[in-house]
Amino acid sequence: MDFKINFSGTGHKYTQDEINIVVEAMESADPLTQGKYKDIFEKKFCEYNGNKYAFSVCNATAALELAAQMCLFKDGDEIIAPSHTFTSSVYPFVKKGAKVVWADIDLSTRVITLENIKKCITAQTKAIVVVHLYGFMIPEITKISLFAKENNILLIEDVAQAMGTEMNGQKAGTFGDFGIFSFHSHKNITTLGEGGMLTVKEERYADIIPMLRHNGHCGFLQQRDHYWTPAMGNLDLPNLDGHYLLPNNYCLGEVECALGTKLLERLDEMNAQKRSRAIRFIDELKEFESLQFHRVDDNRHNYHLLAAYVKNGKRDQIMQKLVYDKKIKCVVQYYPLNRYPLYKKLGFSSAKCPNSDEFFDNMISFPFQHWMSNEDFDYMLRSTKEVMKEIK
Ligand SMILES: Cc1ncc(COP(=O)(O)O)c(C=O)c1O
Repeated sequence: MDFKINFSGTGHKYTQDEINIVVEAMESADPLTQGKYKDIFEKKFCEYNGNKYAFSVCNATAALELAAQMCLFKDGDEIIAPSHTFTSSVYPFVKKGAKVVWADIDLSTRVITLENIKKCITAQTKAIVVVHLYGFMIPEITKISLFAKENNILLIEDVAQAMGTEMNGQKAGTFGDFGIFSFHSHKNITTLGEGGMLTVKEERYADIIPMLRHNGHCGFLQQRDHYWTPAMGNLDLPNLDGHYLLPNNYCLGEVECALGTKLLERLDEMNAQKRSRAIRFIDELKEFESLQFHRVDDNRHNYHLLAAYVKNGKRDQIMQKLVYDKKIKCVVQYYPLNRYPLYKKLGFSSAKCPNSDEFFDNMISFPFQHWMSNEDFDYMLRSTKEVMKEIK
């Protein structure tokens, strides 16, 4: 089907300066991975986001895999996670042995709450995964991080969609023990389709991540008279609190790192542009009370996505008109994870998450790529008004 407005898989376009950086790195980087551009990207990322340690990785899922590995799950350990999120917020923890207890979201903010987390706590809770979904920073993140600390529970902040958001001057991804960022094609900044960052607070994690990320490679401990003796003697098994962890290869290439560094300069501007468009869309549709958006006119929201909850039960009628009459490719997101065969077969089908079900069953996500033209955006707004007038 031909759409007039696609739900694009590319979150933003590149400027000529960004393209030039890519070409420069292609021509000059040696090696093409694990070199100076990586070091610069990680340093600039820390400066931008306010983290102590940051490690570039090939995508956010790899960052989640590393975080899950460092949780050191024992038999019977549980994680609490929202059922309303993207699948890789959760399965890496299952792979490393955790059981999942699903927490519900708040229907108006679409993110997890402290109250809902508390309902899921047991003596086996080892970690909590919170997700700043749709680009909205969880309002109770400070309280949740205090609660986790007081109860000796690890906190993983999935910031894949919310990079650049902040509250009282503190950025998302600086509250948890682990922060997860994505530079996937669809995200607010993308390093050529794939990319991610893992941030940590504690030195004991920072010390082993380079080895965990890169096949167990570590620095040579002893002074060497000749670089080739001993040759290739620098492989070790990362040790965390007395536990040996098997390494992975989750490195991000130099070209991507060079581009990521450059994109950090434009992230705030792109977030602000998306937010002001979102606010215009929301305000101009205010009269249609059955279409409920989440309006946040400050840095807590970057409007990675523009989602509405349809309160009158007519979601599918509205979708049909938007899609078939107006040719606007709206979509429905996030299938409650406990309802997927993948999680059912793993034994995690049971969840008391009525808001996650209600939201998924009645939501519309509008195309919202940064590069949408003003004409297309105006067309989408006009068309949505027309459809809402038709379907009372
Ligand atoms: C909330 C959330 N977490 C994690 C991921 C995984 O990101 P990546 O594709 O970089 O592995 C995504 C990507 O869609 C996401 O939206």
